[in-house]
Amino acid sequence: MTAKILDGRALAKEIEKEVIADTEAFRETQGFPPTIAVVRVGEDPASVSYARMIKRNFERVGMGFNLHVLPEWASQEEVIDLITWLNVDDAVHGIMIQEPMPRSIDAAAVRLVLSPEKDVDGVSPINAGRLALAAPMGRPSGVQDYLVPATPLGGLEILKRSGIQIEGKHAVVVGRSNIVGKPMAFLLMQHQATVTICHSRTENLPAVCREADILCAAVGRARMIKGDWIKPGAAVIDFGVNFVDGKMCGDVDFDEAVKVAGAITPVPGGTGPMTNVMLMKNVLKAAHRQVKQ
Ligand SMILES: NC(=O)c1ccc[n+]([C@@H]2O[C@H](COP(=O)([O-])OP(=O)(O)OC[C@H]3O[C@@H](n4cnc5c(N)ncnc54)[C@H](OP(=O)(O)O)[C@@H]3O)[C@@H](O)[C@H]2O)c1
Repeated sequence: MTAKILDGRALAKEIEKEVIADTEAFRETQGFPPTIAVVRVGEDPASVSYARMIKRNFERVGMGFNLHVLPEWASQEEVIDLITWLNVDDAVHGIMIQEPMPRSIDAAAVRLVLSPEKDVDGVSPINAGRLALAAPMGRPSGVQDYLVPATPLGGLEILKRSGIQIEGKHAVVVGRSNIVGKPMAFLLMQHQATVTICHSRTENLPAVCREADILCAAVGRARMIKGDWIKPGAAVIDFGVNFVDGKMCGDVDFDEAVKVAGAITPVPGGTGPMTNVMLMKNVLKAAHRQVKQ
């Protein structure tokens, strides 16, 4: 058996067309584009190149992009002042605070200041809390609208747009970070999956993974998940971004897994491109909500 390849690049292109149309309509009615402000403290190289990529992506689809860079030695107060100012700037609809920040900055305190309405990276405790409180699909939850981190949102979108059944299925998420594993688990549960979350202390991880109809890997360890950890026919969503001998690979051993799984995201070309486009979607969502208010 050879798994169906879940082509994140192609799906992202499809979603990008929707983003372009929505952005054009927004610009026409409002007279300005949905805009993201990216905040960076210092010059972390990965953050510098990520910001460059966001700029390219946003400008390509006609969305606004502003970059705010504070020096490495900026004080906590200066960072908080900038966020507070962006929170009330009507020309900015989404704010992304790049991490890691210098050690002198209390990142959690900065996230706390960020307006949940503009938190397009889903890092505010308010948004994380609302996701955790949200009811399963189709049930009234009474929870205010919220934003979810783009990476798990992209993983979910791959499953949905590929017609993979989530309801009633056993999903195993390996990794429990606040930005990928945990929100992915909440999204799957909300979509009626039975969810198991694994982490570095999980005993007998291969056996737990083998139970999964949907296996999501968000670990950060190159090719850790082997072919014989996968239930035949399972859907595998690999969030991992690792480099071995200068080549990018996922957390799943793709060459082994593709022979066992029913469907699998490649790395590169799977969840990565989806993250980029879901960030745009989040900015659009935030912009629509803000102009409505
Ligand atoms: N595709 C994308 O767009 C995108 C976006 C963001 C991140 N990523 C990638 O996704 C991966 C995960 O990112 P992250 O930010 O979630 O990483 P993270 O914060 O380092 O979390 C890693 C998680 O994996 C668990 N873990 C580590 N070693 C393990 C092991 N041997 N067995 C089982 N679990 C183990 C950790 O467990 P403990 O909690 O017990 O420590 C932790 O929960 C990375 O490769 C990252 O580059 C991709």
